[in-house]
Amino acid sequence: MTTSTTKVAMSTEQFARMSQIIYDRSGIHFPEPKKYILESRLSHRLSELEMDDFDQYIAYLTMGPYQMDEFQEMFNRITINETSFFRNDAQLAVFERQILPELLDARAKTKRIRIWSAACSTGEEPFTLAMLLHRTLGVRLSDWHIEILGTDISEKALKVAQSGVYNNYAVRSTPSLIKDRYFKEDGRNFVLSDDIRQMVNFERHNLKDRMAAKRHGIWDVIFCRNVLIYFDDAMKKGVISMFSNQLADDGTLFIGHSERIKDLTTDFQQLNIPQGFCYQKPAHVMSTQ
Ligand SMILES: C[S@@+](CC[C@H](N)C(=O)[O-])C[C@H]1O[C@@H](n2cnc3c(N)ncnc32)[C@H](O)[C@@H]1O
Repeated sequence: MTTSTTKVAMSTEQFARMSQIIYDRSGIHFPEPKKYILESRLSHRLSELEMDDFDQYIAYLTMGPYQMDEFQEMFNRITINETSFFRNDAQLAVFERQILPELLDARAKTKRIRIWSAACSTGEEPFTLAMLLHRTLGVRLSDWHIEILGTDISEKALKVAQSGVYNNYAVRSTPSLIKDRYFKEDGRNFVLSDDIRQMVNFERHNLKDRMAAKRHGIWDVIFCRNVLIYFDDAMKKGVISMFSNQLADDGTLFIGHSERIKDLTTDFQQLNIPQGFCYQKPAHVMSTQ
């Protein structure tokens, strides 16, 4: 039996099988140099399950169709959940000052806006978007039906999001005016105001699951930042084509500043806005779905 402090070594063959299992389920691509992440993050799980090696864990994971819970446990441990409020503020300024005003004009009749923060980790991204809408709309907010959904594969991350309680690290890039307005300090914690919390819903969603995405309908804005970097080209293509299906014709897709999709799709065209990292559908793609 292993102890919680013992790192269980993973052979090259075990790594090949584990990384294939992870890829098949989530699209997350673990290259060989990242083997140590799986070893260090899953060793404690092996210990909890009183398993001696990764062969036993692989057998357990692949035992049958009822292993959903163990996959969930695994994704809670192996995903990289790095995020923060107001992450990449230059890009958020593009959303707030250019994309959002146009969208508010375009939806002036229906007064309905739907925003999806896909792979939102612990919720800082969708809550940031809620704050931007809150401050832009001000007293007009109650006239609008604003729907913001945060989704992630990690239930553990979503639990933090649902608690609305954050530490100093999460608010490190948050302007102090915003901190004063939307958070209450409670000892070392920053507790999000109810106004903002109630604007966002959270749900577990695997970006591989097109059917679940379809059930959520059409979005006006999709933020999917800093997760495509963990996928290979085949998975990226699948996710981008799913976004193309789920985004309104005049909708906007935001991706991370270090991510590129230009060579992977003709469904989206990058907007010529410095620091925007945002995309819309070219005319030939509109309303073809
Ligand atoms: C680095 S965080 C990015 C958080 C946020 N979007 C941001 O940019 O600050 C990446 C998130 O992607 C999630 N993730 C990884 N693979 C996923 C998948 N197949 N489906 C949904 N979420 C996934 C991870 O759980 C993690 O929380």
